[in-house]
Order: sequence, then C-alpha cells, then structure tokens
Amino acid sequence: MSKNLAAWEKAKRDGKKMAFITAYDYPFARIADAAGLDGILIGDSLGMMVAGDADTLKVSMEQMVYHTRIVARGAARALVMADLPFGSFEAGPEQAFKNSARLLKAGAEIVKLEGGEAMVETVKFLSARAVPVCAHIGLTPQHVRQLGGFKRQGKTQEAAARIFDDAIALEAAGARMVLMEAIPTELATEITDRLTVPTIGIGAGPGCDAQILVLHDVLGLNMDRAPAFARAYVNGAKLMQDALTQYAEEVRSAKYPE
Ligand code: KIV
Repeated sequence: MSKNLAAWEKAKRDGKKMAFITAYDYPFARIADAAGLDGILIGDSLGMMVAGDADTLKVSMEQMVYHTRIVARGAARALVMADLPFGSFEAGPEQAFKNSARLLKAGAEIVKLEGGEAMVETVKFLSARAVPVCAHIGLTPQHVRQLGGFKRQGKTQEAAARIFDDAIALEAAGARMVLMEAIPTELATEITDRLTVPTIGIGAGPGCDAQILVLHDVLGLNMDRAPAFARAYVNGAKLMQDALTQYAEEVRSAKYPE
C-alpha cells in the first residue's frame, strides 16, 4: 500500500519518524522504494545532481514532469512528492494550479513549493482545488540570488520568528506538510511541536517528524561539494568508478567477453 498522506499524518500522531530521499529516475526510485523509504521527492535539485548546474534555477516544468513520471513508475509504496520549479508558480495561484495539475497527472501525490507567507494565498487556492501541498521554508534554494548564497536561515530572533510565523500561516492555509531547510534545531523542533501536519527537516536537526536528504549525497555520488549536514552512507562514486575501470581493463585484456 502506498504510504499516502493519511499514513504520514498517522505517523506524526504516533510519534514515528519517517525518512524521505530524493530520486530522479526509475532505477533509483525502485531502489529507494525497495529500501523502505517512506517518501521520494523529485526535487528540482536534479538541476544540480543530474544536470550539473550550480543551482536549481534553470529547471523547467518539462523536466519536472518527465522526471516525476519516471520516478512514480518505480515507487510502489513510498509517497511521491514533486517540486514546482522556479518560475512555475510565483506569478499567481492559477499558474501554480496549472503546473501542479501537470505534476499530479505525471504521478505526484503532493507538490512542494518554496516560500513563506507570500505563498499563503497560493497554498489556499491549491488546497481548495484538490492539490496537496508541502511548503518549503527556511533556506529556499530558488531564492539563492536574493539570499546571496546557500546560507543557513533563522539565525537572529527576528528571522526565527518570521520562519515560525511562516509555518503557522502555511499550515492554516492548508499545507499538508512543511519542509524546513537549514534552520536552527530549536526553531525546527518548536515548529514541529506546534504544527499538526508532519514536518520534514534537512539540516534542521533531529526534532522534525521526518528527515530528507539528497540521494547523491547519501550514496556518495555527489562529486561536487555536499552540504555539511549531509551524510554519505557509501562511497558510490568510487564503487562505480572501480567497476567501470575493471570493465574497461577486462575488455582491453580480452578477459571480457569470454
Ligand atoms: O530539490 C530538492 O532536492 C529539495 C530538497 C533538498 C529538500 O528541495
């Protein structure tokens, strides 16, 4: 059975921690699903992890629809969440609805959008029209130009209070989950305790209901700089490089094919 939104909400009520991971294609979605991950995000981080860009700003709706379709095909159990990329929702609720519908038709069960109080009207509009929304607050990578880099957020009392208010307003607007990136542990814990919807943290400490990491960071496939809070559970890049080296050597030495 799919780990749908009701299962996530029950997990929060039961105090059970949940694990999310990003994935961008069918084989990795199958692997994540078989590993028992509770949720899979088709993140716009695909611009960085798959396309090799320095940020997520170039990712298009066409890319998101394509990657959502191929991930959803491989996710039999995990909840499938897809990102609304930069420029696909900020113009207004109607634009957000049109593009959310494309992601739901491609197989997403919930869409994620970045932004705080400025997104309240959009979240209300989507929620009233059968689109489950996860609100992404704190460090919002689509705002990298405005923020001047991928910097931790909520460091001053005023900034922390703004993020807290964002979370409350977004839940009241109908957000079914709140993802918090790169904010202080105490703030994330306080928000988690206050909200009835599940929170997902990334670089936000252990107090959140769920954690998410980028697949390439967890598998050691990110050959560029990984964030300090990420943990590689295997050196995937080395394992794969060694396998490819062995293959090339066996071809050259006529060991393969036999
Ligand atoms: O795009 C993404 O992968 C994300 C996660 C880092 C939360 O938004």
